[in-house]
Amino acid sequence: MLDAITTPAEVKIATAEHPIHPLIQHRWSPRAFAKQPVEPEKLLSVLEAARWAPSGGNGQPWHFIVGVRGQSATHGKLVEALKEGNLPWARQAPVLVLTVATTTTSSGRPHTHAFHDVGLAVANLTFQATALDLYVHQMGGFSPDKARELFAIPEGFDPVTMLAIGYLGEPQMLAEPYREREITPRTRRPLAEFVFEESWGQTAAVVAEGD
Ligand SMILES: Cc1cc2nc3c(=O)[nH]c(=O)nc-3n(C[C@H](O)[C@H](O)[C@H](O)COP(=O)(O)O)c2cc1C
Repeated sequence: MLDAITTPAEVKIATAEHPIHPLIQHRWSPRAFAKQPVEPEKLLSVLEAARWAPSGGNGQPWHFIVGVRGQSATHGKLVEALKEGNLPWARQAPVLVLTVATTTTSSGRPHTHAFHDVGLAVANLTFQATALDLYVHQMGGFSPDKARELFAIPEGFDPVTMLAIGYLGEPQMLAEPYREREITPRTRRPLAEFVFEESWGQTAAVVAEGD
């Protein structure tokens, strides 16, 4: 099967039922990253895109710890915090990023939408990356405690996700089960399952009539 598919990116294109922007259609989360480094100006662009995300009260509760492979000890430290399932492929990524949320405001109150806002910033970062031919794989599979210890993250700030960023590699770079996942089409639940109107579980008319 692998030989029949020359470009995994093609098999990953979203089979959208309604028109969506090509950036959304083409984004996906690879595990095979090319060795090619990410240019510093492109890294700055994806971080700048994150900066311009909306956030509750413009609180901007996001932080990014950036590790560029071969440039500092940070990449290696981020690798140390990865869970086993992500380790074999994510350690190869040219850039690893730890995202951290401000969970307590400066006045000591909980920052209620901090994780949501960090997610928005990562979404911005991800689509900017797609526009630059880069790929992002977000991960929850890491140890927040280990990350806190390694980077001396203070109370009031919580690690959220890790991101692997780079150019697309070849599925052949991966061992199973990762290789097969690299060429498996992406799937999503239908709109009717999660867009409601009137009461919980009742599909919204715009969706029901649009099918
Ligand atoms: C918060 C979050 C945590 C994730 N954690 C992991 C992870 O630990 N390991 C992994 O391989 N993928 C992880 N993913 C990637 C998802 O599995 C992936 O986005 C999903 O299967 C949809 O695939 P797509 O991004 O290619 O459309 C995570 C994604 C998000 C948003």
